[in-house]
Amino acid sequence: MLRKSLVFLVILIVISPWLLVLSASFNQSEPEWFVAIKRKTDELLKSFDVKTSEEKVNNAEKSYKNIPQNLFLSDEFSSSEYHDDLDIELSFDQTVDSNNDWDLLIFTQQWPATTCYHWREQDKNHKCKLPNVKEFWTIHGLWPTKLGHMGPSFCNKTANFDINALQDIVERMNLFWPDLDGESPPQDHWLWKHEWLKHGTCAAAVDQLNNETKYFDQGLKWRESYLISNILRDSGIHPDSNNTVVALHTALIKGLGKNPSIHCLYDGKNDISYLAEIRICFNKSLELVDCDGVLRDAISIDYPGGTVITNCHISQAVHYPSLVPGRHNIVNDRKWKFPIVNLYKLIQFIMWFTL
Ligand SMILES: *[C@@H]1O[C@H](CO)[C@@H](O)[C@H](O)[C@H]1NC(C)=O
Ligand SMILES: *[C@@H]1O[C@H](CO)[C@@H](O)[C@H](O)[C@H]1NC(C)=O
Ligand SMILES: *[C@@H]1O[C@H](CO)[C@@H](O)[C@H](O)[C@H]1NC(C)=O
Ligand SMILES: *[C@@H]1O[C@H](CO)[C@@H](O)[C@H](O)[C@H]1NC(C)=O
Ligand SMILES: *[C@@H]1O[C@H](CO)[C@@H](O)[C@H](O)[C@H]1NC(C)=O
Repeated sequence: MLRKSLVFLVILIVISPWLLVLSASFNQSEPEWFVAIKRKTDELLKSFDVKTSEEKVNNAEKSYKNIPQNLFLSDEFSSSEYHDDLDIELSFDQTVDSNNDWDLLIFTQQWPATTCYHWREQDKNHKCKLPNVKEFWTIHGLWPTKLGHMGPSFCNKTANFDINALQDIVERMNLFWPDLDGESPPQDHWLWKHEWLKHGTCAAAVDQLNNETKYFDQGLKWRESYLISNILRDSGIHPDSNNTVVALHTALIKGLGKNPSIHCLYDGKNDISYLAEIRICFNKSLELVDCDGVLRDAISIDYPGGTVITNCHISQAVHYPSLVPGRHNIVNDRKWKFPIVNLYKLIQFIMWFTL
């Protein structure tokens, strides 16, 4: 009898956490115990910041304030830049040596929903051409960069953009490197032309990238080798989730083995950060390297597990939206579809404090 009840007790203890998780998975909304743990971790995060890295956070906040507003919203991304780059060129060209020398190539993939949201913030009727495929990151660009500088750019003032040079890869270009801006006429190939004239002409200093075909093809190859959606998915990070910058960083480091740069667009009205771009870096031999030292519109922040280069607020959740935010916000009835995944993330999150 005693043995029987002992076995029963042991079984109960073993399965009860899973019962909880299981019951939560049938629950359409966030269960209370989960909210409680979340609140606790938020408290922990706050006390952690205050106790051990007050100075760092203060410095970080100061650095944020020093980043010019249009740059804080991500270099090429602020619509003025994406649509007509005059303002940034005028104000920043002087920071680059006239010899057009550079150290690293920054390869940038963007999250289309966030890009589109950013445009719609300025004009709510702005048309976007978004990919039909789910969890689909697209290429923004391939930018030669001198460490600590914004450029060089427009290295060959007499260069032209010739769409015919891309005829063998144009289908893949349309798919993986599309101009998301539905307002620009497709026949203009605005984005490709801009990227080639502004950045490609500087990348051309390297033999492997010295013509249009090679430059764009390299971008397509790198997207294939370093698919951001896969890297995040491997760590259980899917669209429609809120993540800490540290969780994103941990996932990317795990997948890449090198330090990337993580970029958010910040919606000041609603105080929400959206995941916008992941940038990875290559050296002149086209080998993946750390982005350390590439501090264009981001800063470098130390945390107990490493150093993250980002413009996202380190102590705020970063949203990875599945749809353009604010437009389709009705699709929200099953917030916690994968409690086990969330639990896993939470454990990771707690490990971060305790390690
Ligand atoms: C399900 O959600 C409701 C409302 O949020 C909550 O009161 C309840 O405790 C939850 N049930 C379980 C099993 O977590
Ligand atoms: C600049 O572009 C023109 C036109 O494509 C080309 O003929 C010339 O060689 C380029 N100059 C350099 C320095 O690459
Ligand atoms: C670029 O160079 C490659 C290899 O030399 C060549 O196959 C390709 O046709 C060139 N493209 C252009 C536009 O010159
Ligand atoms: C993420 O956080 C925002 C605001 O804090 C909330 O509206 C949204 O529902 C959250 N999303 C998920 C998947 O928890
Ligand atoms: C690029 O990085 C690789 C691996 O770190 C290194 O072997 C190579 O020498 C580097 N090339 C240049 C030009 O720095």
